[in-house]
Amino acid sequence: MRSQVAIIGAGPSGLLLAHLLQQAGVDAVVLEHRDREYVEGRVRAGVLEQIAVDLMDRIGLGARMHREGLVHEGTNIAHEGEMFRIDMKALTGGSTVMVYGQQEVMKDLFDAAEDRQLKIVFGAEDVQLHDVTGPPYVTWRSGGEAHRLDCDFIAGCDGYHGVSRGSIPEDVLRHYERVYPFGWLGVLAEVPPAAHELIYCNHERGFALASMRSQTRSRYYIQCRLDDRIEDWSDERFWDELCVRLGDKAAAGVVRGPSFEKSIAPLRSFVAEPMRYGKLFLAGDAAHIVPPTGAKGLNLAVSDVIFLSEAIEEFYRERSTAGIDHYSARALARVWKAERFSWWFTGLTHRFPDTGAIERRLQVAELDYIRESKAAQTVLAENYVGLPI
Ligand code: FAD
Ligand code: DHB
Repeated sequence: MRSQVAIIGAGPSGLLLAHLLQQAGVDAVVLEHRDREYVEGRVRAGVLEQIAVDLMDRIGLGARMHREGLVHEGTNIAHEGEMFRIDMKALTGGSTVMVYGQQEVMKDLFDAAEDRQLKIVFGAEDVQLHDVTGPPYVTWRSGGEAHRLDCDFIAGCDGYHGVSRGSIPEDVLRHYERVYPFGWLGVLAEVPPAAHELIYCNHERGFALASMRSQTRSRYYIQCRLDDRIEDWSDERFWDELCVRLGDKAAAGVVRGPSFEKSIAPLRSFVAEPMRYGKLFLAGDAAHIVPPTGAKGLNLAVSDVIFLSEAIEEFYRERSTAGIDHYSARALARVWKAERFSWWFTGLTHRFPDTGAIERRLQVAELDYIRESKAAQTVLAENYVGLPI
């Protein structure tokens, strides 16, 4: 088998790239080792920056998102029972974010992939990349048979645990990493959200976040210990802890109900650079992870695939390697700023094992400063809605 591009992974990066390349007339095959139900069923991101909204429109898949998604013009920060609002729209000259779950994005991408006959191989086992400095090829097994795909380029869109990053020699790839000493316990419940915008909460007992998927479905997170187990957290314990952390005012809006999803996610800052080696390009979580506090992960996948599709399109249209040569530097410039923001926002809102009396007072001072300073709020707002691409 042959195609111009082999895409490893059918998560947001891989499928968005596949749609963009098809639109540009570039032939691609996506190799995904799980099935559609698994990829679509993972409860992950909830907040789309304007660039992600624009991309869904550009590939002709924005209709349901505009109908069902919730446009948020502001977000709230709570601490010590106090709450203040960051008016993102006013502070950024009109930018907003869209609350539309990653599961919905994936459903739209998969439905359209069927209609448009994108080539996706599900259940691809033991995917291996060969001769990535070119001419490259990919091998895998499915249905008990061995397969081979020859291509011009490989897009490694296979997430943090994928195989692509490992195909770059160790002496070329540089890793930067911080693993945070806590996790996020997330709950989904079929109850109306606590407020009509998100609430990021710093509390002595740890971070809490009130988010949502729709007017009738809430998504909540609380900071938890890394050794906590889901079984330790009954719904009742979760709701009690959430309400304590949110404080009386925000907790008054919490509607309790049975959870239908509960999971613990570790937090990590990670960047692997460069994002290109020979004919192999990394995109999305395969190259970088942010702690989820700033809602940046999926949005970084979006900017990566925009840059990468432009570079590949330019190569076939003009036979120029300028875009390809610049891809890693261009993507990383945006990645590092989002890494910085996510790291900063995590530090501001979480309780660390070494958060002593002075660190706590400094956090509270910074939160007070943000509440009082339009300049500080503008910095937060312009990062939250997403820096330009
Ligand atoms: P992935 O989603 O990891 O997809 C990779 C795909 O590759 C998967 O389908 C996997 O099955 C496949 N794959 C892996 N290995 C192989 C292999 N060897 N062969 C073939 N296929 C393979 N981001 C935001 O922007 N906003 C948020 O609000 C937000 N909240 C989050 C909350 C949580 C709890 C979590 C965990 C994440 C959150 N994120 C958020 C991050 C976001 O979900 C990820 O950044 C995003 O999924 C990255 O997409 P990706 O396609 O690069 O990687
Ligand atoms: C959600 C996740 C985030 O990490 C975040 O910052 C905001 C919202 C969510 O899943 O709804």
